[in-house]
Amino acid sequence: MRRRRRERTLYRMDVPARTSRPSAGQRALAERIVRGEALAPRGVVELDSSVYIDPLRFEREKRAVFDKLPLLLAPSALLPERNSAVAHEGYGVPLIISRDNDGQIHVMANVCRHRGTRLIESNEIVSAKRIVCPYHAWTYGSDGSLLAIPRAECFPGLDKADRPLNHFTAFESGGFIWFARDHDADFGNVFALSEDMDAFGMSGLHLYRRRTHEVASNWKQVMDAFLESYHVQRLHAETIAPFFTDGISAADYIGPHQRAVVGRADYLSEIDREDWAAVRRVLTYTYAFFPTSILIVSPDYINLLVVMPQTVGTCLVEDFMLIPEPPRTPEAEAHWERSWTLLDAGTFAGEDFRAAALCQRGIESGLVKSVTIGALEQGIAAFHERLAAIL
Ligand code: FES
Ligand SMILES: [Fe+2]
Repeated sequence: MRRRRRERTLYRMDVPARTSRPSAGQRALAERIVRGEALAPRGVVELDSSVYIDPLRFEREKRAVFDKLPLLLAPSALLPERNSAVAHEGYGVPLIISRDNDGQIHVMANVCRHRGTRLIESNEIVSAKRIVCPYHAWTYGSDGSLLAIPRAECFPGLDKADRPLNHFTAFESGGFIWFARDHDADFGNVFALSEDMDAFGMSGLHLYRRRTHEVASNWKQVMDAFLESYHVQRLHAETIAPFFTDGISAADYIGPHQRAVVGRADYLSEIDREDWAAVRRVLTYTYAFFPTSILIVSPDYINLLVVMPQTVGTCLVEDFMLIPEPPRTPEAEAHWERSWTLLDAGTFAGEDFRAAALCQRGIESGLVKSVTIGALEQGIAAFHERLAAIL
């Protein structure tokens, strides 16, 4: 028994990522870029500005989207160890995400079953073999089961088995942890992503760094910034623009999730398209996981952005950077640090999130009744249509 457990541990944490082969969909998108296929022309779309500033619309989104659909919480790499846990509150619900003694993920209420105390206060990873309530020390296991009650004789007739932490429906799939507040939520569209994520070896990656940004914009402004490539040569002129070619992009959908690819400057050079690593050096895949997350796949590292609405005009964005393995030398550390700084502080905070906040400020003035979406921004129009359809 002990041996079987150990093998499972190794499989989860130590086996190099299953990678090397693109999915059929990834391959088809790459071929579209290589063939130089233009975007299917689509007329200019006007999007009502109220979607970013109307408090009633925000309430409708909360009920129809955030209380209902599966939401991405974090990459699996946030909790590589068994019997570990982390508090999560970005979606407005006090959660504990834990990995139990068998490697299974749980998403539970961070609320004691005795009198409701918040159990884990910090958002750092903690050892969770025993989660002890700070108030009267009721003690829970990493799977949420109630293990111990001090002075148990004071609770005659109370069965510990009846008082585990409240659980949410949660799945670990394709290297990510998802949960839903609605116990009947359908996770089919989450599982549909796993083939593409396996191609990136997502579940074997190492979390290098994470940081939560406060952004003064409606959550959809941040999503919009990653649903179009129009701004890359302009907004990002000082950072990442040289790596890309203006307007060379293609996109399709996996269920409601957008999959896009952008050509890098040297995309024309002859590469062996059977060589997945070579393809990834010249093409950048970006996914918008409906409704709240963005995955940006650079050649040797990956950023996940999780957008969490706070008010109609503010959101949090947690940036996770994933790398193939922990840095083992000072040179490797310096290399990843440069990449982290370029994207997290430079490109995201300094450019994309700043643009989202500036856009929000302009729209909050009430001086534009609609925003104008052009051919290179079709992903934005499609995202807003999809959202409107479920409200
Ligand atoms: S509130 Fe948690 S033990 Fe009392
Ligand atoms: Fe951008």
